[in-house]
Amino acid sequence: MSEKVHVLLSEITTSLQIPELPPPNSGFNHQAIYFSLIIPTYQERDNIPNLLKILSELLNEFIPGQYELIVVDDDSPDRTWEIAKSLMGEYPQLRVMRRKKERGLSSAVIRGWQVAKGNILGVIDGDLQHPPEILIQLLLTIKQGADLAVASRHVKGGGVSSWNIIRRFLSRGAQVLGLILLPGVVGRVSDPMSGYFIVRRTCIAGVTLHPVGYKILLEVIGRGNVNQIAEVGYVFSERQQGESKVTWKQYVEYLQHLFRLRLSTGVLGRVKQKINLPIGKFLRFGLVGLSGVFVDMAILYLLSDSTTLALPLTLSKIIAGEIAIFNNFLWNDTWTFADVSSKQQKWHQRLKRFLKFNLICLGGLGLNVLVLNLIFSFLIRNKYIANLIAIAIVTIWNFWVNLKLSWRVTDVK
Ligand code: GDD
Ligand code: MN
Repeated sequence: MSEKVHVLLSEITTSLQIPELPPPNSGFNHQAIYFSLIIPTYQERDNIPNLLKILSELLNEFIPGQYELIVVDDDSPDRTWEIAKSLMGEYPQLRVMRRKKERGLSSAVIRGWQVAKGNILGVIDGDLQHPPEILIQLLLTIKQGADLAVASRHVKGGGVSSWNIIRRFLSRGAQVLGLILLPGVVGRVSDPMSGYFIVRRTCIAGVTLHPVGYKILLEVIGRGNVNQIAEVGYVFSERQQGESKVTWKQYVEYLQHLFRLRLSTGVLGRVKQKINLPIGKFLRFGLVGLSGVFVDMAILYLLSDSTTLALPLTLSKIIAGEIAIFNNFLWNDTWTFADVSSKQQKWHQRLKRFLKFNLICLGGLGLNVLVLNLIFSFLIRNKYIANLIAIAIVTIWNFWVNLKLSWRVTDVK
């Protein structure tokens, strides 16, 4: 048998645009490639052999011969690219790019997609923190019609194994900021930070991508033409080998990326048709809110009226408000968002939801005062109508933030 000479893919430096059609099959008589999975790497020499082995076994079983694995390494000093290259004999579906001119996770992924032969394009971290088994589920949801299938830490079956409080906080903070700046992009997925997803070529071909830093998924949703999104839960596991490349710089880049997308994409119009609005939940949330108004009124009367307890008004209102919040929480937890809470019934989980709900309601109250004043001073000089509009706006806001932050799947061991 003749030894095949394994060559590296040559580096691309043209604009970051994915061709509409995959490059024609070169020379060899192999099967058409259906799925191309990019593995961006930097300093992953201790992980890459293991990952390639698991991925090959998995995909050989599921779509033998119809996939390719493309390692895009940024000339790692630990020579990850060389290790990957040396494994090309063992794994015929493997291709390797060594980049010397460019650096960065997002551009590495796009460069990989640019040379990809498949019509389904994917990305997975090279450090085994993304469980490979999930790939099959992602592929299946695409087969069933999704345009984009995202592995998410925040849907059923998802979680993080042991992140410290600071990392959780930063991750959530980044998400909230994203929701405020780019609701039409960040709000479409439960885990916008995910770097583990697959997408149809047709959704991102022909557009020039401008990613900054790490978060390539934002770019795909923000600039691509993605209709149906599916999510599959996964647990982000601990790194066994090597180390994370995330530094403060990635947070700055994330901010830049958000602003850039905000300014350059006209997503607002698309939001309406594309977000799958949870109408039922919203109606229940509204009804619960209404019940809270009655609870609040009744308690306020009982506490403050001169014929009853005659407590001071402010004190009465604080107590009444808190009891109403408690009332609303109970209803929302057992009814509105029962799908999520029924799976997280432990006391500490309930307590956590209750505290979040409280905080968000408090924020909502502040927002209410602000919006009321704005509407009253600039739009409608009728306090009751202005208040009604303010309440409507704040209800939507409260609902949405609670949906995204309080009643969601998180803790999974
Ligand atoms: N080519 C290339 N160039 N690859 C890189 C670079 C780079 O500059 N920087 C990091 N990578 C590779 C790493 O080798 C690894 O395979 C993957 O990108 C993720 O990098 P980590 O440093 O391990 O990131 P993490 O563990 O914090 O993961 C976070 O980011 C991921 C990528 O967006 C999480 O948010 C994940 O959910 C997310 O998938
Ligand atoms: Mn990692």
